[in-house]
Amino acid sequence: MTSSRLLTDLRAVRRTILVANQKGGVGKSSIVAAIAVAVAKRGKRVLVVDADQQGNCTIRDLGVKSTDEGRSLAMTLQYGSALEPVRDVRQDLDVICGGKMLAMAGTVVSGAEQHGIDPRQNLLIALENLVDTVGYDLVLIDSGPGDRALLDLLLQVVSWLIVPTKEDDGSIDGAELLARRYLRARKDGALVELMGMVLFDCNPRAVRRNEETLGKIMDLLDGTGIEPFRSFIRQDKATSIDTRAFHLTPEELIDFSPPRNGEGSATEDSPTKKWSRDPGALATDYQKLTKEVLVRLSAGERAKEGV
Ligand SMILES: Nc1ncnc2c1ncn2[C@@H]1O[C@H](COP(=O)(O)OP(=O)(O)OP(=O)(O)O)[C@@H](O)[C@H]1O
Ligand SMILES: [Mg+2]
Repeated sequence: MTSSRLLTDLRAVRRTILVANQKGGVGKSSIVAAIAVAVAKRGKRVLVVDADQQGNCTIRDLGVKSTDEGRSLAMTLQYGSALEPVRDVRQDLDVICGGKMLAMAGTVVSGAEQHGIDPRQNLLIALENLVDTVGYDLVLIDSGPGDRALLDLLLQVVSWLIVPTKEDDGSIDGAELLARRYLRARKDGALVELMGMVLFDCNPRAVRRNEETLGKIMDLLDGTGIEPFRSFIRQDKATSIDTRAFHLTPEELIDFSPPRNGEGSATEDSPTKKWSRDPGALATDYQKLTKEVLVRLSAGERAKEGV
């Protein structure tokens, strides 16, 4: 289906948030993993869909060992087969893996009409079925930086969009490009709503500069009635290296000490050094963002139900 054709099936999967920016390296995967783990820790059932062929969220952030490298999601898009998550990546957290099998998904999606398939409908139905069967309270979709056809399709399936951005002009341009795709999807009938934009990798002490960046974000959101998130994700290189080395979120890193060689599941290649002295501040940023997201989600879902 091309995005210029009006959607015939006006549905979106409830409580499903897409995290996207056309620019790479703006925190999409880190944010998805951190919010997913935080919400699951509160005893809510969470599904992460890693729709990126890099599979960073699956492997690096969440440490999924038995990844199918995107096969299940690719099969759903092409053939409408059921989505098969890896269960219990953490308690109450399941993952539809991303990875290299999604490389062809973009081609499938962009050539769908010629081949008589409807990958949007395939994903919508498979995701709704899975969410209903398992009873997920929240679905978070991580997206890759490049694949526009897949991004357009995801915008036609989800109910919410969060756009992270760094302060540099390239990232803000990426957010603007994404905002345009979002508006076009809405014009074509998609039900997705922008939940907010969030500043990533920023210096919490650069108050004036952050205000200026927030100003640019406000300009982007002008006329939408949407506020950027109040919380931001601070720069913390040491913690971000540890999160990916140990496949833990900043919150999980707080009480974690690396096992020594020969101890527990440690192998010779396992990292033994933790660089971060205090992941607490970054963990707090994610906790605040998670809270804001949950507040906006429940208010937004209530409003949609009211409609
Ligand atoms: N708080 C932080 N401060 C500095 N760097 C960070 C922080 N959190 C994560 N990073 C690093 O920033 C980079 C980009 O983060 P991430 O992979 O989450 O972005 P992304 O938007 O998903 O990227 P891509 O578009 O490639 O999928 C990664 O190398 C990550 O380790
Ligand atoms: Mg990513």
